Amino acid sequence: MNRFAGVRCLVTGAADGIGRATAMRLIEEGGAVLVCDRNGSPLEELGARAALTLDVTAPDAPARLMAAVETHLGGLDVLVNNAGISAGAPIESLSDELWHRVLGVNLESVFRISRAAIGLLKASGRGRIINIGSVMSTHAAPGMGAYTVSKHGVAGLTRTLALELGPFGVTANYIQPGAIVTGITRGVFAADAGFREFWTNKAAVKRLGQPEDIAAAIAFLASDEASFITGHGLLVDGGALQSP
Ligand code: NAI
Repeated sequence: MNRFAGVRCLVTGAADGIGRATAMRLIEEGGAVLVCDRNGSPLEELGARAALTLDVTAPDAPARLMAAVETHLGGLDVLVNNAGISAGAPIESLSDELWHRVLGVNLESVFRISRAAIGLLKASGRGRIINIGSVMSTHAAPGMGAYTVSKHGVAGLTRTLALELGPFGVTANYIQPGAIVTGITRGVFAADAGFREFWTNKAAVKRLGQPEDIAAAIAFLASDEASFITGHGLLVDGGALQSP
């Protein structure tokens, strides 16, 4: 398939996990892809048009990204806001520092990078914003307050973007991954058999998700076939949330 020939894409957090698999999928299908991550060296093997080592929470990150997009891609059609972290503490002991760190990466950077990209996406004629939410965009778990708030925020932000940008041919959607084996979870799944078995059994399809499962859904939302889907939160969780 060559679905993304001539399509200009930016993927944040592409050094590992879902972002890496997404960048690879878009490149395999002909996309011109610019990647970034705070961890620079794994980006070099991807074969992207350009790779930036950058923290998405840096004040100048949106401007640097858009300047690189214009230089290396000449415009932008698909923005994938994927960079994220998972860290938790019960609200009673949740520090201001941890709250700001989680909200800063998972939500504020998504807002700031999306805002900076809007002009280019409007000019594209087939613009796409695909944000990575979570099953925690609609659910909550004790000890995961900051993460839960950040992913609920991604849902609200994306739905607002969908309404504001629809008239310009730009769609905005968010993915709700279930339990996926990535940099965030790899260590816990390896070390904690109970956790691994819980999520494997909770999925209707009786397996953990892989980054490629999410990349495939992102590629669909980025494709021409998805032009009438916007403001949607797409669960890609193997059916885990279908039972209480
Ligand atoms: P990962 O740790 O494998 O990949 C995340 C990437 O983002 C890493 O390469 C990391 O270096 C980068 N990153 C983190 N903070 C950054 C920053 N400030 N600036 C630039 N790059 C930064 O983890 P994964 O799972 O692939 O995470 C991707 C997204 O998927 C995140 O938004 C996460 O919340 C979401 N997600 C993951 C789930 C899972 O089970 N793994 C479930 C639901 C959502």
